[in-house]
Amino acid sequence: MTPNQYIEQNKDRFLNELFDLLRIPSISADTAFAGDVKRCAEAVAEHLKKAGADNVSIEPTAGHPIVYGEKIFDPNLPTILIYGHYDVQPSAPDELWETPAFEPTIRNEKIYARGSADDKGQFFMHVKAFETMMQTNTLSCNVKFMIEGEEEVGSANLGTFCKANKEKLKADVILISDTSMIANDIPSIDVGLRGLSYVQVEVTGPNRDLHSGVYGGAVANPINILCSMIAQSHDENRHITIPGFYDDVLETSAEDRAAMAKTPFDEEAYKRDLGVKELLGEKGFSTIERTGIRPTFELNGIWGGYTGEGSKTVLPSKAYAKISMRLVPNQSNDKITKLFSDYFKSIAPPSVTVEVTPHHGGEPVLTPTNSVPYQAAAAAIRDTFGKDPIPTRGGGSIPIVALFEQELKTKVVLMGFGLDSDGLHSPNEHYGIFNYFRGIETIPRFFHHFTEAKNSGVASN
Ligand code: BES
Ligand code: MN
Ligand code: MN
Repeated sequence: MTPNQYIEQNKDRFLNELFDLLRIPSISADTAFAGDVKRCAEAVAEHLKKAGADNVSIEPTAGHPIVYGEKIFDPNLPTILIYGHYDVQPSAPDELWETPAFEPTIRNEKIYARGSADDKGQFFMHVKAFETMMQTNTLSCNVKFMIEGEEEVGSANLGTFCKANKEKLKADVILISDTSMIANDIPSIDVGLRGLSYVQVEVTGPNRDLHSGVYGGAVANPINILCSMIAQSHDENRHITIPGFYDDVLETSAEDRAAMAKTPFDEEAYKRDLGVKELLGEKGFSTIERTGIRPTFELNGIWGGYTGEGSKTVLPSKAYAKISMRLVPNQSNDKITKLFSDYFKSIAPPSVTVEVTPHHGGEPVLTPTNSVPYQAAAAAIRDTFGKDPIPTRGGGSIPIVALFEQELKTKVVLMGFGLDSDGLHSPNEHYGIFNYFRGIETIPRFFHHFTEAKNSGVASN
């Protein structure tokens, strides 16, 4: 039986098994769901075993566990390490979901559920592709799986695991499906991811909440101050004003920018989808550039004072904000966090104090297109879609990827099958049934092309 025949025969089961996984609310950010996260790790381990993996283990960490499994045929054959994450973002606000987040439902040929695209639907394609290769005797090389449970909270413990298990994780390439393509008929492969510096700011004014009439006008209001500090962080061209912020930004060559300008992109459809009349971003850059090759400064949340029903006249003691800065090569998370912190403290008036707490972050990545792994992925995509993939720069972050290259010294391929419009982290997240099965079909093709290229020894990179 060919792999495609096997996939065709098992279509319904492949969908149902994914549905079972999607029913587990493995929300890593919320400790109330720690039991579900663990249950999800156990389910993933069971699936790996059933698919034919050996040495399957659930590796405890200081946080949520990592699921490991492998199939080593012959140490002389190449090894592909699959990375993915079984944890998901919180589902809130639940009332905006048309059907509940953890009751997967099919509408318009799409699977609606939290984690359907990010990343359960995508990493599970690898489990099913592996099963397919095992059952059809077509697995051409060794494979290892490392599926973690903390990606959505910054992968704080995966780095330690990688550093402690370099031999076990040894591979010729790390294959990841946790990114998007341009469209179902325009396949693409991400060659870059943005880094991230995520901070929380606390601005303190008076030592207690005050009557906004009795004291208002005489004492600094930390919410007003915080808003003005935030407003100063971009100039009229939406350039970020933090001194030194752009110092390390790797300028994109005119050639690369010209290639980006040719990337198919329908700006009208993009605006329509988002319900906005106009886009807003840094002057001098296109939308694709603004999300791909330029750093950002975004408020993710802001609070303080009274936000309950009706009104309460109060001059609050404290104001808070959560801010993410997306980074591009060669910016560094620690450096940007420090620049931000110094800047915010420098522009704060003496009437308030400012405290900055860094949260998780990650470094940006850029991968070459002339490497054996990229070329194998391109060939696999070509086999499935009948077209060359377009190299793209993803706007999101996968914090551990930079560490994979640094610590494990292993090249990464980001062969994602989702779409940016799948509603990742939003209500009504979905993943196309088309995308799920195209992925399962393409992965064995990657194995084939990668092994062939390695065995023929045409190149060593
Ligand atoms: N899979 C996404 C990242 C992504 C999505 C990259 C689409 C490229 C295209 C990942 O799960 C994610 O959401 N990462 C977080 C990082 C974090 C919570 C530390 C992000 O980008 O905000
Ligand atoms: Mn993801
Ligand atoms: Mn995510």
